[in-house]
Amino acid sequence: MDERIVSGEPLEEEEMQELSLRPQRLHQYIGQNQVKDNLTVFIEAARMREEALDHVLLYGPPGLGKTTLATIISNELDVQIRTTSGPAIERPGDLAAVLTALEPGDVLFIDEIHRLNRAVEEVLYPAMEDFFLDIVIGKGPTARSVKLDLPPFTLVGATTRAGLLSAPLRDRFGVMSRLEYYTEDDLEVIVKRTAQVLDVVIEGDAAQEIARRSRGTPRVANRILRRVRDFAQVRGNGKITESLAKEALDLLQVDPLGLDHIDHKLLKNMIHSFKGGPVGLDTIAATVGEESDTIEDVYEPYLMQIGFLQRTPRGRMVTGLAYEHFQLEVPKP
Ligand SMILES: Nc1ncnc2c1ncn2[C@@H]1O[C@H](COP(=O)(O)OP(=O)(O)O)[C@@H](O)[C@H]1O
Ligand SMILES: [Mg+2]
Repeated sequence: MDERIVSGEPLEEEEMQELSLRPQRLHQYIGQNQVKDNLTVFIEAARMREEALDHVLLYGPPGLGKTTLATIISNELDVQIRTTSGPAIERPGDLAAVLTALEPGDVLFIDEIHRLNRAVEEVLYPAMEDFFLDIVIGKGPTARSVKLDLPPFTLVGATTRAGLLSAPLRDRFGVMSRLEYYTEDDLEVIVKRTAQVLDVVIEGDAAQEIARRSRGTPRVANRILRRVRDFAQVRGNGKITESLAKEALDLLQVDPLGLDHIDHKLLKNMIHSFKGGPVGLDTIAATVGEESDTIEDVYEPYLMQIGFLQRTPRGRMVTGLAYEHFQLEVPKP
């Protein structure tokens, strides 16, 4: 599953390649116009007041540009960014070390912020609200509480699961931005930009084809482009034409809507074994051999986005659109 070409999560050794592809400034960040418009105003205001920007929560499926946006925010504010993640901060002391190292106005980026543990979260509340650190050092009779002023800073949190954030933590973010799946047009622009960075020639129709099969996700679009480029080098003369892109994508088993064999297995299983549903999540998980969480977080969001799957109180249902996609007859109710 980790090696799924259409996965929104980064594959191994991809993080390095992505660094060079990340837009550095807000105007280079394609799509997500509402998020960008909002941030532009808040950043401008913070700069004018010479204050730290309000804390920002970025949420949405993997690969849509949360980490990229965090870096851009620090660039636009002209401050440093310190990066860490929920699981990396194990104890309150770890967080204290990070916070006390900040310079005034800095951005602290906490990825996967829904995975912070309770004890760490409690230290974070006063830090976010009043720039104030209150931790207990030591244990038992020698334990003492230490209070420290912190420089004003901006916390940028990112999460794929905003619903898992505790209410007190969520309430302390002044700006909450939900990233949406990208339109095909936006993805096409991203593909063309990446092609330029990678120094590869691509036809407009080819860029469109890749965009169409990238599940609304820039990370997937960039990954597919790299694979298609390899294909073009070996099978063609290096230039990415539409027919070459299609051939490569078919070989990679990414269908015209960006669905791969796992999506096919999941949907067809529901169609053939459960007459399209409704069927419970746990049952689906058991029959396709995946964890329920994985199905819910990884597979379902895109299938629901394109209207192939519906969540109902009685379970999941495959829609007529999905039947049509597989050229199957839609069952009569
Ligand atoms: N709006 C965008 N414009 C151009 N490229 C983008 C955009 N958003 C994301 N990307 C590309 O997608 C890749 C994954 O983005 P990232 O910020 O790591 O996603 P996330 O943190 O949400 O998983 C980045 O390397 C970047 O090249
Ligand atoms: Mg990220």
